[in-house]
Amino acid sequence: MKKVTMIGAGNVGATAVQRIAEKELADVVMIDILEGVPAGKALDMVETGPVERYDSSVIGSTNDYSPMEGSDVVIITAGLARKPGMSRDDLFNKNAAIIKGISANVKKHAPNAVVLMVTNPLDLMAYVCFKETGFESNRVIGMAGVLDSARFASFVGMELGLSVKDISAMVLGGHGDTMVPMPRFTTVSGISITELMDKETIDQISDRARKGGAEIVKLLGTGSAFYAPSASVVAMAEAILLGKDRLFPASAYLRGEYGYEGFYLGVPCVIGEGGLKKVIELKLTDEEKAGLDHSANAVSTQMKEVGLG
Ligand code: APR
Repeated sequence: MKKVTMIGAGNVGATAVQRIAEKELADVVMIDILEGVPAGKALDMVETGPVERYDSSVIGSTNDYSPMEGSDVVIITAGLARKPGMSRDDLFNKNAAIIKGISANVKKHAPNAVVLMVTNPLDLMAYVCFKETGFESNRVIGMAGVLDSARFASFVGMELGLSVKDISAMVLGGHGDTMVPMPRFTTVSGISITELMDKETIDQISDRARKGGAEIVKLLGTGSAFYAPSASVVAMAEAILLGKDRLFPASAYLRGEYGYEGFYLGVPCVIGEGGLKKVIELKLTDEEKAGLDHSANAVSTQMKEVGLG
C-alpha cells in the first residue's frame, strides 16, 4: 500500500483523507497542531471502514511528524482559510510562516515524497515549499487548476443544461482573481464551447469561475470551500500514486515555459509517478497570451512585494 501524509486536518485535509481512504488509494497519516483532532478524525474514518468496506489505515498525529516516514505523497492543507472580505493575498504572511515550518519537517521525514500544495495563496506557498524543502521542482506541485477548471466546467454545464460528465475545462494562470479560463480548450465531448455559446455568455461564466472561491466563502460565512478542493487534490494524488500520467492544469515552477521564469503558475502539466513529468506549452492566441501575461505578472509582482524570489 502506498502512503500519503496529509498536513492539516481541517475541512480540506480531512475531506481529502476520507476520499483517499474510501478509494483505498493509500494508507494515510494526518498531522495537525490541534490536540486530539487528527487522531479523532482518523479513528472516525477507520470506524467507517466496516460500513463503506475499505481497510486503508488512517492515523492521526499532533505535532509529531515521525509517522510520515516513507510517504509517497504529502499534501499540505495546513494554514488559515480565507474569511469573508479577506483576499488570498492577505493570507500570505501567516501561511508562509506555517509552510516554512512544515516544509522543514517534510524534508526531514519524507525526503522522497511528492508534495502537493493546497494552502493559499497557492502559487506563493508552492514556491515557499519548493525553496524550503530544496526538492526538485517536479516534486512540489500546486493544486489550483483542477479546482478552477472544475468550477468553470460546472458553470458551463449549468449554462448549457448538459451533464458535466462530458465537459472538460482548462483554467490556467495564478490561483486568484487573474486566473485565465480558456474557452478554446474547454470542451463538451470534444466540441469547444466557443462553438456552443456566445462570447458574452462565456465572459460571464469565466468571471464567475474567477470569483468561484469568493462566492462560496460568502455563502458559508465562515471558512472556505472544501468539497471540490479536496476532490481536486485527490485526483492529482491518485495520478501520482497509480502512475497514471494525467494531464491537469496545475501550478508548476517555470523555467522559461510560456516565457516565464522563477515562479509558480498554473499551466497544463502531465502528472504521474514521481510528480510533474512535463509542462505542455500550448500555442496561445494573442488574447489568451495577454490574459496569461497579466496573471503571471500579478503572481511575480506579489512575489516581489512579499520578498520572495
Ligand atoms: N501545522 C499543521 N497544521 C496546522 C498548522 C501547522 N503549523 N497551522 C494550522 N494548521 C491546521 C489547523 O489547525 C486546521 O486544522 O490547518 C487546518 C486548516 O484547516 P481549516 O481551517 O479547516 O482550513 P481548510 O478549509 O481546510 O483550508 C486549508 O486550503 O483551500 C485552502 O485557502 C485554504 O489555505 C487554506 C487551506
